Amino acid sequence: MSAGPLPEKFRKLDLPKRQEQIHSTYSPEQEEWAAIGADPRLDELSDIMVEAAIGSLPVPLGIAAGFLIDGEELDIPMATEEPSVIAAAAFAARILRQGGGLSTWADESVMTAQIFLEDAPEEGESRLRRSEGRIGTLVNGALPGMKARGGGFRAMELSRLPESGVLVVGLKIDVRDAMGANALNTAAEAVKPELERLSGGGAVMCILSNAARDRRAGARFVLPVSRLSALGPRGMEGSEVARRVVLASRIAAEEEQRAITHNKGIMNGISAVVLATMNDTRAVEAGAHAWAARSGRYQPLSRYRLQGGSGDSSEEQTLEGDIELPLAVGSLGGAVGIHPASRLSLRVLGFPDARRLSRIIAAVGLAQNFAAVLALVTGGIQRGHMKLHAARLAYQAGARGEEVRRVAEAVAKAGRYSREEAEAILERLRGERRGERRGEWRK
Ligand code: MEV
Repeated sequence: MSAGPLPEKFRKLDLPKRQEQIHSTYSPEQEEWAAIGADPRLDELSDIMVEAAIGSLPVPLGIAAGFLIDGEELDIPMATEEPSVIAAAAFAARILRQGGGLSTWADESVMTAQIFLEDAPEEGESRLRRSEGRIGTLVNGALPGMKARGGGFRAMELSRLPESGVLVVGLKIDVRDAMGANALNTAAEAVKPELERLSGGGAVMCILSNAARDRRAGARFVLPVSRLSALGPRGMEGSEVARRVVLASRIAAEEEQRAITHNKGIMNGISAVVLATMNDTRAVEAGAHAWAARSGRYQPLSRYRLQGGSGDSSEEQTLEGDIELPLAVGSLGGAVGIHPASRLSLRVLGFPDARRLSRIIAAVGLAQNFAAVLALVTGGIQRGHMKLHAARLAYQAGARGEEVRRVAEAVAKAGRYSREEAEAILERLRGERRGERRGEWRK
């Protein structure tokens, strides 16, 4: 049974009092407490960032080194709780660089704010349609900083919902290096009274759309199939590995349940970089899945195909992969840049602007997916996963430092992945060590 709940006034207490209250209510163990409140400066930041903060959650942050993206060498900061994600991304990066790495593209940072008007008559709609210039001026007036940086209003779109009759006003705004949610919501609220006046309707609500369909990014790679030769089981040619990757891609396009898992693998990489830079993971995920389902059928976000190498051509066959999805991420504003962890991630990435960041993220998504599909079609992912799982079991069994590696190796060798097994191995190992020490002491 939970020791809570906390009192109603909890969120109104100051941070030290909230922390005291957590202590007295839930009696956290020292290790648990240290994990969320190690540094008072971070506590202060959490307190600014969210209501009722009690600390911060340290999700593991790692670096997938060795990416080659648009000819630039890059190390990629990734925040994730899943053991194999960073290892898999770095593995794919190593393979893909043999074919020249990944090339990327991104749209301008144009996002849409939506204002929903009810009871707007036809004449009001026409009046609004004729007033795009005026609305644009108002939007830009509400976002002077954005306008000064070359962003601001781009277009207004109107549509009528067939069932409710609600008039939807879409304001397309270039948000430059921001993720844009604040700017869009500010602009939408600023022009709302004028939209109501011109249309004769009443605003029900206004908010950005996370579909972000005008703010897409993509990545691509081309890899000679011979580079895949060493990756399959013994005796499997690179061309066969490539054929299986392409078939896996076709299966995902044909079979929805597989498409969902295929895309989950992509999001393993994408969300990890989005989180490491403290961008909005939910916004990116909502946009990505909506994009995957845009045709009415959920589809994979990446595709693979074979090119060349047929007939009498001496040209080697290549495996080509590409990805495209909406990626609304910022390189400034919001949590990005004020949180030192985000700043560190951006530093590792060379302080990219928002478009460059979205291109990097698209590339990581494709690489992550490639690593997963490659493992799946050449013998399964469990081997790699279980190695990392063994390390977790060793840790849970109480192993620390060098012991973790030794216990994990022994667990993997025994092929019995359980905490009991790890505990037994640890006890044996410590027993042997005690024996060795006694031996040394007698000498
Ligand atoms: C596991 O987190 C991700 C995979 O399931 C992705 C995939 O199946 O493509 C391995």
